[in-house]
Amino acid sequence: TPRVFSGIKPSGGLTLGNYLGAIKRFVDMQGQDYETIYCVVDLHAITVWQDPAELKHATREVAAGFIASGIDPSKSILFNQASVPQHAELGWIFNCVARVGWMNRMTQFKDKAGKNAEKVSLGLYAYPSLMAADILLYHATHVPVGEDQKQHVELTRDIASKFNKDFKAEDFFPMCEPIIEGPATRVMNLRDGSKKMSKSGESDMERINMTDDADTIAKKFKKAKTDPEPLPESLDGLSERPEARNLVNIYAALADMTNEAVIAEFGGEGWGKFKPALADLAVEKLAPISTEMKRLMDDPAEIDRLLLKGSDRAKEIAEPILQKTYDIVGLLRPG
Ligand code: TYM
Repeated sequence: TPRVFSGIKPSGGLTLGNYLGAIKRFVDMQGQDYETIYCVVDLHAITVWQDPAELKHATREVAAGFIASGIDPSKSILFNQASVPQHAELGWIFNCVARVGWMNRMTQFKDKAGKNAEKVSLGLYAYPSLMAADILLYHATHVPVGEDQKQHVELTRDIASKFNKDFKAEDFFPMCEPIIEGPATRVMNLRDGSKKMSKSGESDMERINMTDDADTIAKKFKKAKTDPEPLPESLDGLSERPEARNLVNIYAALADMTNEAVIAEFGGEGWGKFKPALADLAVEKLAPISTEMKRLMDDPAEIDRLLLKGSDRAKEIAEPILQKTYDIVGLLRPG
């Protein structure tokens, strides 16, 4: 069976972008013809400063978000990265395989580092190599992600190829595919349609958090930036209207509809009709998830127990692959 791996950083709370671009898709793949492995990637989170107490909270909260959204720990392997040390071990080996020039081309690093590239952590720079380790440690072949992670998955393929070639270990690490599907592979900021919705944007009005209550969700959609025109009668009419397109994408993803179907239903309508419909739909879909997240967070010890179980299962797959990798590289690791 093909193996799916994906991860989410606990660097703050989950957003609607994480849900529609990632978690909802993870749930879709679960129980299909895939073995699914999902990870709260805490080692990735600390590439930028995280308050230690908040990191622990966010790690559990992202795990709660997975479960509340429908990831079933008995159907998928769900764990946090720090509890499976093999990730960091393979990450180091890949630091020695990946080239500095490759890292220099990573657009997400350039965006995050900005003009301050001398001051960011070395971990932030090496981050894509650890991400390659996350995936290849399980010989995963399918990687569901949002649009912004495509380049990192492509880099993972480059690392796998170079490793296989350098060590004459033909096909040892398989080629993986990014799976970037559905209408919401890039959910945009609600106040600026040219920017991605992210956990760390300045204003809370820019994003929908998975823990927002119904009133907050309604308010944020009501205040979302749009142009004054009504919704177009056909999809082409959205091409130069980033904010309008974003809201249509979000509606489609939440309702499991195509964009065409949304336009067929709302084409010609004004925002006064569409925004409340969108807010109602979002509340209907998100409220049960946030309620369940809160319930799960009342018992952090139970979340820790589930993560520990998941990490034991993850290690069973990871350890033999890491052992073999060490052997291929020529590192002695009796065991
Ligand atoms: P992270 O934590 O930034 O985001 C988690 C997932 O959510 C998707 N996503 C979005 N999708 C649509 N619209 C948005 N506005 C939006 N914002 C975030 C991301 O594309 C991602 O799929 N490097 C990864 C985590 C990672 C990983 C991995 C992923 C670490 N190791 C191995 C896959 C496989 C990251 O920072 O995601």
